[in-house]
Amino acid sequence: MKYNEKIEMVLSQIAEVAGYLWEKGWAERNGGNISYNITEYVDDNIRTLSAISEKIELPEAMNALKGSYFVVTGTGKRMRYVNKNLMDNASIIRISSDGTYYEIIAEKNIRPTSELPSHLLIHNYLIGNGRRERAVIHTHPIELVAMTHHAPFLQKDVLSKLLWSMIPETRAFCPKGVGIVSYALPGSVLLAKETIKLLEAYDVVLWEKHGALAIGEDLIEPFDMIDTLSKSAKIYESACSMGFVPKGMSEEQMDELKRVFNL
Ligand code: 13P
Ligand code: ZN
Repeated sequence: MKYNEKIEMVLSQIAEVAGYLWEKGWAERNGGNISYNITEYVDDNIRTLSAISEKIELPEAMNALKGSYFVVTGTGKRMRYVNKNLMDNASIIRISSDGTYYEIIAEKNIRPTSELPSHLLIHNYLIGNGRRERAVIHTHPIELVAMTHHAPFLQKDVLSKLLWSMIPETRAFCPKGVGIVSYALPGSVLLAKETIKLLEAYDVVLWEKHGALAIGEDLIEPFDMIDTLSKSAKIYESACSMGFVPKGMSEEQMDELKRVFNL
């Protein structure tokens, strides 16, 4: 199907970022998922499409999502194939006018990700709060997930400070750091709601022993956040494997960055 320029731009960005997730080694099998709110770009060509699925009930009514449209990667679909052939591995869904169910409208009847509760409840929160972010990305970055297996790192803001201190870029480009959601069942509403609680205060949310989630006005922004934090995690791991625990930049050095760069 041919879409308007804005939607084509969204689709090519989803494919681009899916490729990065695979290349990074963060997307084993079907690991990770992406959603993008395209409501503002939807034209009559899309609005007039009829449903190609039955009505699928949402876990709860999402009032801010009434009548909105999303591109969502499919459950069980591999990021390396999302990259190569997007619409065989993702679909466009439309939320009902009462916000209680959705239907798949294009292009094939590909069931959305099992993390749809998180994706849609986050979009519901973002729209409801007048936020500009339209993209949600969830992935499995190896070193960051490994760090959530270590209890001391789960204490409030311990991991943010450690990751900031590994390289100045992380302090500069992830100024709010990482929040951590205690282990919760993948795909659960609990996981979604605990994540939403941390979205305001942090750049990236880590799901204990599972993965990362981030939001952005486009997909590049949240991918870069996770990538930057992941670089810090790798530096930490690399130093440990050289036989020492890195001290990291001092509080004074980090404060200086904060001051000079207005973070
Ligand atoms: P899906 O294939 O359903 O998107 O699940 C992948 C995943 O990462 C679940 O957390
Ligand atoms: Zn996952």
